Amino acid sequence: MKSVKIKSPATIANLVCGFDVLGMALNDPQDVMQVTLSKEPGIRIQHNDIYNLPVIPEKNVAGVALLELIKELDNENGFDIVIEKHIKPGSGLGSSAASAAGVVVAANHLLGNIFSKEDLVRFAMAGEKLASGVKHADNISPCIYGGVTLIRSIFPLDIIPLPAPPMYVAVVHPQIEVKTSDAREILRKEVLLKDAIKQWGNIAGLVAGFMQNDYGLISRSLEDVIIEPVRSILIPGFDEVKKKCAAAGALGGGIAGSGPSIFMLCKEENVAKDVELIMKGIYDSIGLAYHSYVTTINNKGITIV
Ligand code: HSE
Repeated sequence: MKSVKIKSPATIANLVCGFDVLGMALNDPQDVMQVTLSKEPGIRIQHNDIYNLPVIPEKNVAGVALLELIKELDNENGFDIVIEKHIKPGSGLGSSAASAAGVVVAANHLLGNIFSKEDLVRFAMAGEKLASGVKHADNISPCIYGGVTLIRSIFPLDIIPLPAPPMYVAVVHPQIEVKTSDAREILRKEVLLKDAIKQWGNIAGLVAGFMQNDYGLISRSLEDVIIEPVRSILIPGFDEVKKKCAAAGALGGGIAGSGPSIFMLCKEENVAKDVELIMKGIYDSIGLAYHSYVTTINNKGITIV
């Protein structure tokens, strides 16, 4: 029986202005997953963590992603999956994407890499559909490709990995629950042309900033006039975190994915550490439990360990 162990990273979708089209992989935290190819057809899932997630394949994000992959196989192989989650579900840090992407990358490895990265993104999006009601690839793509990715289109898939200069990422996860499906439901279905112009200027600016190692341009482009004003209402302390972190020298940041985590990009490690202290201070004074840390961009994506 062939078996593989992988690590699948947390990711930050949207990167402020790029709702559903931009994402970045992080070095910390990462889920661990053991996947074994079996002669017995079907998928068996075991969770070695505290989150009590469903283990029926059709109800599990890794399960549905793997079912999509199996549909395209012409043999009767089955898979045994053991998942150890370190990315807390509902944190906004791509927990479901890490499971869905991790399992299809591991299965593909066991099958002799018969599928392309794009195929794997396509399979893993079934997990996102189960988790949030909608297929989106802005967590899945950076998880699989590593680094920063632009998803120009999902039907058909058009994924562009982007180079990015070294950056530190300070993250705070206030311990409240924000469901991605709810955070999508509250969004306005129409946008004003003046807001759209600002937003696409910022997305283009952010992409250009990443490609040209222009920290000033990255900083100026980390602005979201469409999604953040609606979603930030769900996150206590959000405006204060943003204002104080910018004053401390962060390049900028905002809601990680659909929240409730907040992230700040920083050029220097000492600034990122100061920013983390500011985040902690704010949630200490609000009296809301949180988890915080400083990490860096993960340029490898999912790795075999
Ligand atoms: N782009 C998605 C959203 C990411 O913001 O709803 C969800 O993790």
